[in-house]
Amino acid sequence: MTFHQLPSSFLSTALLFMFIFPHCSSVEYDGATIFPTVKQDEKVNLSVYYKSLSDTGAEFISHDLGKVFEKGLTSIVNLRLIPWGKAQIVEPNETIVCEHGEDECYFNVIHACAIKAWPEQLLHFTFIKCLEETSWGPTLDKEKVWRTCCQNLKLSPNLIKDCYDNGTGRWLELIYAAETERLEPPIQFVPWLTLNGDAVGPDYGNFVKYVCEAYSGSHVPEACKEMPKSAKTSAAEKETAILLKQMRPKWNIGW
Ligand SMILES: *[C@@H]1O[C@H](CO)[C@@H](O)[C@H](O)[C@H]1NC(C)=O
Ligand SMILES: *[C@@H]1O[C@H](CO)[C@@H](O)[C@H](O)[C@H]1NC(C)=O
Ligand SMILES: *[C@@H]1O[C@H](CO)[C@@H](O)[C@H](O)[C@H]1NC(C)=O
Repeated sequence: MTFHQLPSSFLSTALLFMFIFPHCSSVEYDGATIFPTVKQDEKVNLSVYYKSLSDTGAEFISHDLGKVFEKGLTSIVNLRLIPWGKAQIVEPNETIVCEHGEDECYFNVIHACAIKAWPEQLLHFTFIKCLEETSWGPTLDKEKVWRTCCQNLKLSPNLIKDCYDNGTGRWLELIYAAETERLEPPIQFVPWLTLNGDAVGPDYGNFVKYVCEAYSGSHVPEACKEMPKSAKTSAAEKETAILLKQMRPKWNIGW
């Protein structure tokens, strides 16, 4: 069938559809997903500043942060992990000194290498979660810890080994140090979360709520639909309802 033979009713339906759902005219398909993708600049930037061997950081990463990947929340979030915490760079030779000693510095570098090796959020998060759950103990065989995680997750250990050995990991850490240093207000504890650059503070455990509130796009994921409504949201909803009431008679649309 050629284009001009399409029934006109089909064309007008299609045009009407594009008018009502303008964002649907640019649906991107990525394999299984047939929903419109949220544009990169509409996503909420969630940054997690932490260090590898802090128990509050490990607790948060193992038990809470996984919510980013549940109920569609990941479709509206850019998750960034910044494994530096409150380490220090000491002269001479810019030696990195970590609060929990050399083991912590070592694992910070391994985390940085994982983020570089597997930029896909879920992949490096899963690996780092594995590390956080196992990198403990006084007689730690550090290399065995991350090699076991690689093995369990079927990830190649070579990228991590090279990144650590050739200095890329340390170089990445210095970049994370500079980024952490620029935080305003400065980091006070770990994990330290920011949403679109704004500090979340002590209530970081409720980060899903804050992500949902910070998101202003139209593709609201399941995770945000079941949030108990905050005072802020319901005030906004009231305003919207009033606006719609005012618009209705003017547009003469029967909703
Ligand atoms: C700093 O680096 C120099 C040259 O590599 C080395 O001789 C010196 O021992 C290092 N100092 C420390 C404190 O590591
Ligand atoms: C270090 O190793 C990583 C991982 O294999 C690689 O991507 C990077 O290019 C290497 N860098 C240098 C300076 O050799
Ligand atoms: C999120 O981060 C990206 C990349 O750094 C930036 O371009 C974008 O403007 C940020 N979005 C918001 C809402 O701050």
